[in-house]
Amino acid sequence: MTKLTYVSEVNQYLSKQAKLDTLRFITCGSVDDGKSTLIGRMLFEAQVIFEDQIKSLQSDSRKIGTQGNNIDFALLVDGLASEREQGITIDVAYRYFSTENRKFIVADTPGHEQYTRNMITGASTAKLAIILIDSQQGILEQTRRHSIICSVLGIKNIVVAINKMDLVDYQQITYDQISEQYKEFSSSLKFQNVITIPISALKGDNITHSSDNMNWYEGPTLLNYLETIETRSTAVDQPLRFPVQLVNRYDSNFRGFSGMIEAGRVNIGQSIKVLPSGEIATIKDIILFKDKLQSAEQGKSITLTLNKEIDASRGDVIVAADDPCQVSDQFQVALVWMDQNPGYLGRNFWLKLGTTLVNANITSIKHKININNFENLSATQLELNDLLVVTIKTDRLIAFEKYHVCPPLGAFILIDRISNQTVAAGMIEFELRRANNLHQQKLDIDKKARNQLKGHISKVLWFTGISGSGKSTIANALEKKLYAKGIHTYILDGDNIRHGLNSDLGFTNADRVENIRRIGEVAKLMVDAGIVVISAFISPFRAEREMVRELFEEKEYIEIFIDTPLELAEERDPKGLYKKARKGEIPNFTGIGSSYQIPTNPDVHIKTKTETVDEAVNRLLKIINV
Ligand code: ADX
Repeated sequence: MTKLTYVSEVNQYLSKQAKLDTLRFITCGSVDDGKSTLIGRMLFEAQVIFEDQIKSLQSDSRKIGTQGNNIDFALLVDGLASEREQGITIDVAYRYFSTENRKFIVADTPGHEQYTRNMITGASTAKLAIILIDSQQGILEQTRRHSIICSVLGIKNIVVAINKMDLVDYQQITYDQISEQYKEFSSSLKFQNVITIPISALKGDNITHSSDNMNWYEGPTLLNYLETIETRSTAVDQPLRFPVQLVNRYDSNFRGFSGMIEAGRVNIGQSIKVLPSGEIATIKDIILFKDKLQSAEQGKSITLTLNKEIDASRGDVIVAADDPCQVSDQFQVALVWMDQNPGYLGRNFWLKLGTTLVNANITSIKHKININNFENLSATQLELNDLLVVTIKTDRLIAFEKYHVCPPLGAFILIDRISNQTVAAGMIEFELRRANNLHQQKLDIDKKARNQLKGHISKVLWFTGISGSGKSTIANALEKKLYAKGIHTYILDGDNIRHGLNSDLGFTNADRVENIRRIGEVAKLMVDAGIVVISAFISPFRAEREMVRELFEEKEYIEIFIDTPLELAEERDPKGLYKKARKGEIPNFTGIGSSYQIPTNPDVHIKTKTETVDEAVNRLLKIINV
């Protein structure tokens, strides 16, 4: 071949490749189902492994005792997986390969139960999932879990690869049994196409070549099926959805909104709406790098300018004015809990949906889904790998779509506000209608007016500390002093409130979270009423103390840590509760069977070991400034 023909062939090949469409898929399987081997085998058979890599694999495989010239394909994938070690937070490795007819991107997600999170990340952009089943093991809990997650995430195409057929002598009966079981199990899931293919990733049966070992199987090979399945995205045909990632102010004359079109297309002159505010404008320019375009469609990252000044910021969504998406602050969602620590109702999280970041909390658990039989179970808290249907409230209106209509605007994650860890992934099912019917009533007499009438400002003095630390004692002495100065006060005390408003709550973590959430809301009403609120609750968790802090304006909330070592509180034991707890009569007593998270940055730190009640009160009087 001359150099010229070679170059021209390469060019032809490249331009043909450029025109091929791409199928994104994921592989899911339990540990040892042979996922790495399968991916390695696919890469190999699609001819992307270069000769020299093969040679070194052969020698590595020999080193670890693989027979003859057999290649351990798992080595290939695991070797490529070094990006995992580089501290990339989400542990999904994407691999690219192509055949003559199609390009592929496969998200390789670890199979261990803890890694459900990674699977979700991979699955959120995938069009198809390969679910691996070890023919010797059959359908496992993991198979069901992964299938349900795929269904919840809206993946419509499922390939069940029944692997390791060589180890069951390529028997049709094993394949038939597993196929039947899977089809029965998956019939209630929302899949469109389910195909089962008997394979051996290790031996290469039914990957690209029809296996001579399984003449009884008449369906397509795995790659053959992947090459032919319909992949066209319908998002282009939907109305415009453009979440603003960045407000671009190049100079005082230029103000553009940058981001990626998640659905539909945008044209110059088109009438748009900015949500959630609802302001209307028309598109002036569509800019891609230095070029101005007439129109752009889904998948393009662009900057838009508008015909007039509009107050839009990151997280807002620019939509077609005649076909906008919805706006709400209350939703029913499907949620996968992915954190080791349980999740509680009422606790505040960051909710990240596309480019929007808002405060949110889980308001109720509708049910937990038993992944083995789809039964609805009741639950009071969220545990690792639970799949649940819950309701969520955000502290601001957000623009969204139902997940199955437009995944990028319906999928979100919850982030722990203290650790910054992603704790859950969720999919919006629908908005709660009650959100539409509730309005904030505007009243003429406000907090400022009430403060003026009373002659002092209102705030909350939030005492926290273990039982017997002295919260109530100091709070009581402080209130007497404030009262004497003519200040309107009210003490909210754990023991008292738990007889009334919170008499339905006990001392589980979930109940303590709800206890503090309610007290925070009550304190907020009282501060609004013009009162200096003194609250005395253990309030053991940082997350809830922070949540309460955020209900108030900056100087309105003062956190006072009553710091008494456990030994000292136990020695005092004013209510005899420590004694009972030590005898095992109170199983989750704070400091013994239940934790207390020490405040890291309290506004006032009172050490009762060295400071008397009077000293503490005098110090507080100077600090609180009402
Ligand atoms: S909190 O943890 O939810 O903030 P809260 O301050 O309302 O607790 O109530 C604590 C009081 O309830 C304690 O001072 C003690 O008198 C009583 N109590 C009863 N059981 C427990 C328990 N398991 N842990 C802590 N306090 C308990």
